[in-house]
Amino acid sequence: MTRPDPAARQDVRRPAPEVIAAVRASCASVADRPVRLAETFYAHLFEMAPHTRGMFPADMSDQMQKMTGTLLAAISHLESPDTAALEALLRKLGADHRTKYGVESEHYLYIGHALTRAVRDVSGPAFSGGLSSSWIAVYQWVAAHMMAGADVVDAAPVVELPQQREPDEHLPHGVWAAAGG
Ligand code: HEM
Repeated sequence: MTRPDPAARQDVRRPAPEVIAAVRASCASVADRPVRLAETFYAHLFEMAPHTRGMFPADMSDQMQKMTGTLLAAISHLESPDTAALEALLRKLGADHRTKYGVESEHYLYIGHALTRAVRDVSGPAFSGGLSSSWIAVYQWVAAHMMAGADVVDAAPVVELPQQREPDEHLPHGVWAAAGG
């Protein structure tokens, strides 16, 4: 199996200004209901992909807004001319998702679907097919940078740690730690 190329992931085009503007406007209309958005989002995610429920803590009250809040913040930075800092932050977030939570590429598909469905539910009649496509384009850009960060983690060589030795009882207390064992 060939590994995905981290650089290729980031080739995903930055969405056109009018696409970002549409999503920004949509964000503004759902921003006063962040809890509802987060609740609807996770309801869709766990209905669609029940196996992801175990990845999250039992008590979701903290988690609820972290993901949607970060995403909305990222979108608000996407319009600025220089997105290098945002891209670096997303790569770091994606690398952490890989190492800390075991997130795989396929999970990003579920999150994308759950997100567009949640925005649709919360937006009501303001939602349209065009707006859905705009959200998908923006989400894909964010997800591509997170997955690129995860690819770097996956491509890193695995470091074999030396086998743990038993402490030598003849050594005076503290010498073991100082010796780096
Ligand atoms: C646009 C995509 C995503 C964004 C913006 C995002 C954002 C975040 C943020 C900001 C946190 C808290 C950071 C931390 O505490 O380290 C978090 C935690 C987490 N995310 Fe994501 N995430 C995304 C995609 C995903 C995907 C695809 C999954 C896999 C199903 C996932 C699963 C998790 C889990 C399991 C946690 C930790 C929950 C906990 O133990 O508190 N995320 N996410």
